[in-house]
Amino acid sequence: MAKTKISLKLLKNKAQKEMLQAKDLKDLDIVFKKYLGDEGEVTLVLRSLKKLPKTKKAKIGKEANELKNFLKIKFAEAAAALKEKAQKEAELKEWFDITVPGEKVAFGHLHPLTLVQRKCEEIFQFMGFSIIEGPEMEEEWYNFDALNIPKNHPARDLWDTFYLKNGLLLRTHTSPVQIRYMEKNQPPLRIIAPGRVFRHEATDSSHEVNFYQVEGLMIGRDISVANFKAIIQEFFRRFFSKDVEIRLRPSYFPFVEPGFEIDIKWGDQWMEIMGAGMVHPNVLKNAGLNPSDWQGFAFGMGLDRLAMIKYKVDDVRLFYSGDLRFLNQF
Ligand code: PHE
Repeated sequence: MAKTKISLKLLKNKAQKEMLQAKDLKDLDIVFKKYLGDEGEVTLVLRSLKKLPKTKKAKIGKEANELKNFLKIKFAEAAAALKEKAQKEAELKEWFDITVPGEKVAFGHLHPLTLVQRKCEEIFQFMGFSIIEGPEMEEEWYNFDALNIPKNHPARDLWDTFYLKNGLLLRTHTSPVQIRYMEKNQPPLRIIAPGRVFRHEATDSSHEVNFYQVEGLMIGRDISVANFKAIIQEFFRRFFSKDVEIRLRPSYFPFVEPGFEIDIKWGDQWMEIMGAGMVHPNVLKNAGLNPSDWQGFAFGMGLDRLAMIKYKVDDVRLFYSGDLRFLNQF
C-alpha cells in the first residue's frame, strides 16, 4: 500500500510537471493520454484496484479517483492557458505600430494640357465668353461644307482626317462648333469651344494625330478686326502674365475673309500660334444668319502649342506619352 501511495504521489508530480512543459495543445493531449487515456498510468492504477483486498481497495480507490479528478481539472486549466497563449501570439502577429510614419498617398494632378485649357477658359470667361463643346465625331457638313470647304476643294487636303464606318469623321478642328452654335443661338454672341481634334498625318516633334484647340467666335453688328486684336492681346497678357507682342500675318482659311495667322514674339523669335479672321459671309449664311446684319471674328488656337511655349516643352508627343517622368513635373 505504501508503495501504491508513493506511486500515486509520484504520478501526480510527474503528470503536473509534464503538463507544464507542454508547448501547445497537441503536446498537452499526449500528456493527457499518457495518464488518463485508456492505457494511461492513472487509468491502469484504477483498473488494478479489483485485485486488491476490500479495505485497501476503498482507500486507494478514493485516492486514485481524487488524483484522476485533480488531474482532469489541471489538464483543463493547462489547456485554457495554452489556448489563451496561442490567441495572444496570433494577435501579436497582427499588431502594428501606430507611431510609424504612414506611407504617403500619391496624389495625382491635372495634365498640363488640362491646366492650359482651364487657364484659357478662365481668361475668356472673364472677358464674357461662354464655353461651348461640340462632338469629336462630326458630320462632314459641319467639319467642311458649312465652313465653306466644298467637296473636291483643294483646301480639304489641309485637313485630312479619319473617316468612320458610320459615315461620320473625326473633326479636324473645333471650327464646326461655330456653325452648331450659330444655328441655335442669335447674335450678339461670344463663345470659345475647347476640345480635341484629329489629323491624318505623320507625327513628329510638332505634329500629332490628335491635339487640342480652342475655337473662338464673336458675332455682333459691328465686331471688327480691331476688337479681335484687343481681345487676343489681353488674352496673351493674362495667359503669360506679361505683355506679349503679337502680329497678324495675312493667310488663307476658306471660312474667313480676310484671314490671318497670329504670331507671338517669344525671345527673339516669332511663333505661329493661331489662325483667325473675319467670319466668311457664306459661313454665316450656312448657319442661318444674314451676313448683312451680322459680322464678327473667329479664331482657332492650338492648346498644345500654347502649352509647349508656356512650359518650354520641345516635343508635342510628350503630352500623349503617359511618361510619368514628364508628367510629374507639372
Ligand atoms: N480651324 C483652323 C485650323 O484648324 C483655325 C482657324 C479657326 C482659322 C478659325 C480661322 C478661324 O487650322
